[in-house]
Amino acid sequence: MNQVDNRIKALADRLPEGFLIGSATSSWQIEGDLAGRGSSIWEDFANAGKIKDGATGEPACDHVNRVDGDLELLSWLGIDSYRFSFSWPRIMRTGEGALNPAGLDFYDRLIDGLLERGIKPAATVYHWDLPSTFGDKGGWCWEPIADKFADYATVLATKFADRVDSWATLNEPWVSSFLGYATDIHAPGANEPAKGFESAYRLLLAHGRGIEALRSNGAKNTGLVLNLTTMIAEDEGSQKAATLMDGLQNRLFLDPVAGRGIPEDVMEATQHITDWSFVKASELQEIATPIDWLGINYYTPNRVESPSANDKGFIVGQNTDVYPGMPAVNFVPREPRTDMGWEIHAPSMTTTLIQTAERLPGVPLFITENGGAFKDDNIVDGRVQDDDRVDYYINHLNAVLDAKDQGIDVRGYYAWSLLDNLEWAEGWKMTFGIVHVDKNTQVRTPKASAEMFKKLIELR
Ligand code: FCB
Repeated sequence: MNQVDNRIKALADRLPEGFLIGSATSSWQIEGDLAGRGSSIWEDFANAGKIKDGATGEPACDHVNRVDGDLELLSWLGIDSYRFSFSWPRIMRTGEGALNPAGLDFYDRLIDGLLERGIKPAATVYHWDLPSTFGDKGGWCWEPIADKFADYATVLATKFADRVDSWATLNEPWVSSFLGYATDIHAPGANEPAKGFESAYRLLLAHGRGIEALRSNGAKNTGLVLNLTTMIAEDEGSQKAATLMDGLQNRLFLDPVAGRGIPEDVMEATQHITDWSFVKASELQEIATPIDWLGINYYTPNRVESPSANDKGFIVGQNTDVYPGMPAVNFVPREPRTDMGWEIHAPSMTTTLIQTAERLPGVPLFITENGGAFKDDNIVDGRVQDDDRVDYYINHLNAVLDAKDQGIDVRGYYAWSLLDNLEWAEGWKMTFGIVHVDKNTQVRTPKASAEMFKKLIELR
């Protein structure tokens, strides 16, 4: 056995009985088939020329037309569970009203295909592709949106609750609100800090009402997916900023869900941006509806220092604008970094798991996304030897098991992503897949990292 095989074997020996290994995707990033659904805010964003390489949702990975082959790929991989998201405008073209039969058929095929292969379907109700019709009305700042979301969740549960193994209401509401409303990094690109807070609140409310709607229509195992991370202050002067950044990204979401309301330090530090008058006590109770599990998407820590000339260059999603109200700091990720500019630091994932378990006691945790973008466009003799990604995965899987060894109730891990796909505003430039996708021919080629997962699952 070579050194990597030894590491895979050692990891397999550490995996507890019943620990789920899966891979994840999202609708807009892979589905394509724009004609088969209504428009989403990501079409509007793409049409406004805001995606770096000019990519659009068509054909993405043409997954709707290639679902049978993709199911075979999942079967070959041998994973326990596949995390995907429903496209709201594929279920209902305008987000409400008439159901779209072709859209429902597609998800039937996907879910049934997973079950036939012994793979547990893990569904996300909303992974950022809001129908344009609602986007035009104000999107996540539009008051009725939480109820529209609950109606949509009701449709999904009614159709699919008998076959879906686990449900997440939202994927990463922090990104939806602060990259989409406080800044112009993601759709809809509002660029108004106050809207970042209001949209975050309405997303949380939609989550609470969504959980209720899913459960009362038969869905079991309902949860939420947040992007949480460890904040590291490199010097005394950046400590206060790091604490507030933790408030803005982690506690702003965890505290209301845990029943503690909006964190006071966050409200205080942002008074000059918003008066928070949209918060209602009765709604906070809905937001605190107990969940069956929490998913954490973890990629990198946020490392900051006092303002300095230390410019680390390109880092996706790490700058003071996405944390409205935070004092000036420099983001100083250390090497090694991924193509996104994100520091690779697996111990921070262990810390994030431990910290989250303290903040949301008694709720089982999953890593619902983790992975890295690396330059690996080269297929040599039919192979993509993505050693950096293999190393990233082995280190991070071990970091999850380190948390488990410390008593944290973490029950599974999903690699982001199954396929090279549309990385939102970065377009095709950032490849996270364990399977290479040729964007011109759509040919899928499993990378060494996919083989690593396959071996790991066989050896455990
Ligand atoms: C997460 C998203 C996912 C993907 C990864 C890289 O924030 O949930 O869709 O873009 O980042």
